[in-house]
Amino acid sequence: MRLTGVLATVAGLLLAASTVLAQPPSTAPPARPAVTPKPGYVVPPENSAGLYPVSGEPIFKAKCAQCHEPAVGRAPTKDLLAARAPEEVYDALTIGAMKPMAAGLSEAELYGVTRFITGKSPVPNAPPVADTNLCKTNGPLQPNGPQWNGWGRDVANSRYQPKPGFAAADIPKLKVKWAFAYPGTKNTEPLIFGDRVFVASMSGKLYSLDTKTGCVHWRYDWRGSARASMSIGPLKAAPSGWALYLGDDRMFVHAFDAASGKELWKVVVGDHKVGRITGSPALYQGVLYVPLSASEESQGNVAAYNCCTFIGTVVAVSATDGKILWTRPILDEKPHATRKNPAGTQMYGPAGGAIWSAPTIDAKAGQLYVATGDSYTEVEHPTSDAVLAMDLKTGKIRWANQVLKEDNFMSGTVNGPLGTRGPDFDFGSAPNLVTLPGGKSLVITGNKSSVVYAMDPATGKTVWETPKLGQGSALGGVEWGPATDGKTFYAAIADPPGRGRPGLVALDVTNGKELWRVDAPKGLPCNVPSGRCSPGLSQAVTVVPGAVFAGAQDGRLRAYSAIDGKVLWEWDTTTPQDTVNGVKAAPGGSLDMGGPTIAGGMMFVHSGYNGSAGASNLLLAFTVDGK
Ligand code: HEC
Repeated sequence: MRLTGVLATVAGLLLAASTVLAQPPSTAPPARPAVTPKPGYVVPPENSAGLYPVSGEPIFKAKCAQCHEPAVGRAPTKDLLAARAPEEVYDALTIGAMKPMAAGLSEAELYGVTRFITGKSPVPNAPPVADTNLCKTNGPLQPNGPQWNGWGRDVANSRYQPKPGFAAADIPKLKVKWAFAYPGTKNTEPLIFGDRVFVASMSGKLYSLDTKTGCVHWRYDWRGSARASMSIGPLKAAPSGWALYLGDDRMFVHAFDAASGKELWKVVVGDHKVGRITGSPALYQGVLYVPLSASEESQGNVAAYNCCTFIGTVVAVSATDGKILWTRPILDEKPHATRKNPAGTQMYGPAGGAIWSAPTIDAKAGQLYVATGDSYTEVEHPTSDAVLAMDLKTGKIRWANQVLKEDNFMSGTVNGPLGTRGPDFDFGSAPNLVTLPGGKSLVITGNKSSVVYAMDPATGKTVWETPKLGQGSALGGVEWGPATDGKTFYAAIADPPGRGRPGLVALDVTNGKELWRVDAPKGLPCNVPSGRCSPGLSQAVTVVPGAVFAGAQDGRLRAYSAIDGKVLWEWDTTTPQDTVNGVKAAPGGSLDMGGPTIAGGMMFVHSGYNGSAGASNLLLAFTVDGK
């Protein structure tokens, strides 16, 4: 909006505000705007739909409710405002008609009230800034080059790289070759495709970088954010013949030409107010299997929120044109009205079972596996905290194995009793499909209770389960994902300090027997700029022949011997770096979510997560001797 426009609107509003009572009530509701991605350079404190520190409810009551609840005159009702994009509300408060009403609110309060109204945090619009290190040449893609494509590198989600391009013996010599700084609080796992590495973050920027130098081949800006890993697949309609697929935090799936970044199509795959894509869409034979999650659990301290209506869902999307092939919620029962909370707000259920991780494809059985999170309400939810098998063609649920019942969890207590309040033992990790010696297979995965389960792919029955490997908690236990080389299963334990047993555990895939375990060292200095440090290993694990890589929330990345867990190498990713895009002494931060990706003699990892970073996050590229 141009300044003159803003002034004109403010003047108009002041007029409107002084005459509100004389106005006839508005009949035509404002049209629901399309959530159009716009370019934007974004450094919000937290622009995801996730937890946000300032509650907007008291702000709304104090500064907005007198005109919007009930709506007076021309003012839209709160429900109509709720249907708007968070950016529109944010813009109205910062550069638009409501600027006078929002005078004096801090940035965090603006986010809080916007989030309270729309259920999402906004991505503010600021002018895009050109990249300083554009590549001088943009050669063709190298589809036959080294790859780490998708979340787990293969559709079985092994997170095993058989051809890392460096020998285990050279791991102690890994050094930073280059670092790239960018805004954003959470990141997608770096995707390696020939000589390109693709990364996006919650900043609403997607980059194609050169693996050798970190120069920028292209950048795509959109008013959105992403942390789900991307995939590349062949596509005739793409000028280069290859499409890059991204699922974002607003439930949009995008397809880009992988060579140029031109957007080919985009589709919104869900309509829940606070729905999002956190787990990586799995690309298999021309279909993207997209897992949906939501931040409804963090509305638990909002008394006016109609808690809760989100059900974990998988959506199958044609990779050719974005057509939705099927949508399968993990539960047939639809959320229905239940009781009123102490504030008188209508409550709903069942709800929950978000799918936080990538689906796993079992080509032989023609099915996929997803693992789900907790239930949000006291209404029985038989597929929360479960592993499910779905038919690839139809989405039909073939089996579900719920490992914990009545894990009813909300971040706040304003909704009153939830029946049995659970410990929040989500499955946050993608299931690993492991083929055992002899040909039988197992679906193996761990949850935040710190237990690892192996299930029969045909029936879903638990074949073995470990005792608790740590203490487990809402942010402990097995968080983002184990890895396996087919013989050994490596599970990282994220237990916080003083509560449990953070570390790395190696299990025999055939029976779950513990082969070795290494506890994370405690009491190390905290170099994460935010001061938020934990020795817990929350980030997804990556395995190469002879070694296992696991990152800690205190920023330390380690390589362990696959045989006995001996630490082969350690690097503190918070070590300040002069970046290839011109930031001096940029510190990294916590290691979390997406793990290191390795191919072609290079290893990429993000440092910085969800506020546990400095002004920017770092993408670090490692090679042997930094060559
Ligand atoms: C004095 C009354 C009043 C107060 C206080 C008020 N609003 Fe409004 N608001 C209005 C009116 C009237 C409109 C319709 C303006 C129009 O149509 O030009 C409006 C419109 C809006 C819109 C839509 C803007 C657009 O460009 O279409 C948003 C968003 C909004 N208000 C949010 C808020 C928030 C958030 C607060 C509290 C920080 C707030 N309002 C406080 C009266 C008010």
